[in-house]
Amino acid sequence: MTNASPNSNPNPNPASLPEFYDSLDSSLEEVWQLMGRGTTDRRSAFHTPVIASIDLQGHPSARTMILRGADRHNRTLGFHADIRSSKIAQWRIKPGACIIAYDAGKKIQLRINGEVTLHAHDEIANTAWQNSRAMSRLTYCVDDAPGSVIATPTTLPAPKLDIVNDLADEGLDQLPEMGRENFCVVTVHVTSIEWVYLASQGNRRALFSWPEGKLQSVWLQP
Ligand SMILES: Cc1cc2nc3c(=O)[nH]c(=O)nc-3n(C[C@H](O)[C@H](O)[C@H](O)COP(=O)(O)O)c2cc1C
Repeated sequence: MTNASPNSNPNPNPASLPEFYDSLDSSLEEVWQLMGRGTTDRRSAFHTPVIASIDLQGHPSARTMILRGADRHNRTLGFHADIRSSKIAQWRIKPGACIIAYDAGKKIQLRINGEVTLHAHDEIANTAWQNSRAMSRLTYCVDDAPGSVIATPTTLPAPKLDIVNDLADEGLDQLPEMGRENFCVVTVHVTSIEWVYLASQGNRRALFSWPEGKLQSVWLQP
């Protein structure tokens, strides 16, 4: 039987705790760091969060989407979608969105609520389209709307794939409109962020919201 050290500490390894552990400000800072990294790092859990809407029957509806933008200053997150998809019809009627992601390595869960605005024919959409790569654009070239029942699964739309394959990315401006009419940017205006950090020393949970535009940060019982 081993005796407990007289100096035994309920928090045996405080050095291993991250700086944000007991700091609301640092936790929020970490949120935007993670989301920023999520826009570019394919291995980040925040690159592919799940984003939920409310469907036309009033039921929750969730799907994975690639995080394309994170703007801390404007408190927005950006995604790309086919304008014909179900989620777009849902957000047109009920613009609420809930985004969730969990990074198992970092032990951080984020649950983000916000309101969607859609950009199909404006500068935001044009710029995002211009910056999209050939393979991404190809997604928007299918004739059937996403979610349509089809007789048989197909591979990529062959004639269009041939055209894209014949072009390097830099040649894409030769075909500026291919798939463009189906493309839109989904901007989520963040209204609240719920933070969860798992630690053996004690979990941390916090809520950040902006009533009347002013940041309010509180700890929650995990
Ligand atoms: C890893 C991954 C990333 C995805 N990224 C996107 C995306 O960026 N935009 C998108 O519209 N669908 C994306 N999808 C497909 C959606 O999850 C979903 O199946 C599709 O958009 C139809 O959703 P809806 O019927 O709810 O509109 C992705 C799926 C996976 C598995």
